Amino acid sequence: MSKLAILGGEPVRRAPFQPWPQFDSADLEFLQKVVESRHWGGYPYPTPLAAKFCEDFAAMHGARYALPVVNGTVAITVALQTLGVGFGDEVIVPAYTWDGTATAVLAMGAVPIFADIDPDTYCLDPESVRQAITARTKAIVPVHLAMRFADMDALVEIAAQHHLFVVEDCAHAHGGAYRGRGAGSIGDLGTFSLQESKLMTSGEGGLILTNQLEHYEALQTLINCGRASLTDQFGKRMLGLNYRLTDLQIALLFGQLRRLPELREKRARHAALLTELLAGTPAIRTLPPQPALTSPTHYCYVFQYRPAAGQPAPHRDLFVAALEAEGIPCDGRFYEAVYRSDLFYATPQNCPQLAWQRAEPVDYSQCHCPVAECAAYEESVWLFQFEFLGCEQDIRDIAAAIQKVVENLEVLARQDAALAGIKAMGRAQRARVERAKNY
Ligand SMILES: Cc1ncc(COP(=O)(O)O)c(C=O)c1O
Repeated sequence: MSKLAILGGEPVRRAPFQPWPQFDSADLEFLQKVVESRHWGGYPYPTPLAAKFCEDFAAMHGARYALPVVNGTVAITVALQTLGVGFGDEVIVPAYTWDGTATAVLAMGAVPIFADIDPDTYCLDPESVRQAITARTKAIVPVHLAMRFADMDALVEIAAQHHLFVVEDCAHAHGGAYRGRGAGSIGDLGTFSLQESKLMTSGEGGLILTNQLEHYEALQTLINCGRASLTDQFGKRMLGLNYRLTDLQIALLFGQLRRLPELREKRARHAALLTELLAGTPAIRTLPPQPALTSPTHYCYVFQYRPAAGQPAPHRDLFVAALEAEGIPCDGRFYEAVYRSDLFYATPQNCPQLAWQRAEPVDYSQCHCPVAECAAYEESVWLFQFEFLGCEQDIRDIAAAIQKVVENLEVLARQDAALAGIKAMGRAQRARVERAKNY
């Protein structure tokens, strides 16, 4: 049994993984062209360049319309606004996601209601959604998280039964498909993030898909300062702000989209290999296959750390720290149960909708979604998409590192107290602490 790197041994791997984001000389040439055109902004909206890109993006996902927007959080807010979700309305969101899925709801004056997740997908559990529906519920926002899709069959059926809208948060799912239908084209609207870590990126940015002309026109108005849409068939007047993405950013997206199918396929192939290599590894559970996923997409590869009951084993956070020391970038507390996150700061004082027409204000400290909490604080381990873009040996290194840590669980468990300082921190949290030290 070789000594763990976290305890002074030799790491499984010293070589870095593939860099991200990726670009090539064609991207640079095109960017230069746009710079030289002196058309850098996002007006008129959508610009001819944006309209061309959006046509390609919508076609890839089987949707009729796409529009660009400044980021994925704003994409969710304008999607909800388009559907008329407003003050005091309830919107069901998964308890396990990036905080922005829920804070976007708050920003619209609506009330996020957290539903629990399915332990096999880490996406919304339809049964928990059913239980969360009230007379105030207006919409459901399923998130296609990491490498799985929410159970859209069940969620679309629930939404139809209760006359609810569905906004798919596809921040992790560019290029993915469920029963042959592209991410974001199944619900009423689909939103994407183009933030730097995402599967396609313009540094920051977002995209919205819809199949309905009425929504497409409303979105144009909301994103472009309230101006009428280009075709304006519905003549809807709304208060809009400036959420336009710039042509400088759009310029980068053509290459990102061109590369997406090949990279998606490579990540999927390597993810399948890792699942195969991890089969039978004690204390490790890989997510079961999801047959409805006809085009798998991997923003992250997630597996579950589940040591056998009674086996001496360290906490998940120390497992993650040990794996990272072996040269494998990873995280445990990648997401929190949102209602327990520092960033989800929602009180009746700063969000009056939580108290509006209620005997008691919504109190998020009373939320309890056990599967989400288990994922966030006990069992999930996240590997990043760029680790899946290299060669087969990279994946064999990842599997070897996981197996090395698993073989050493007992040793590590004995060190649990000694390594307590790093134990409670995931990678993102450690980065936050490091950054905070610099202020
Ligand atoms: C699931 C999810 N939803 C929404 C967002 C928000 O996107 P953005 O960071 O572009 O605002 C993100 C991105 O971090 C995300 O991961």
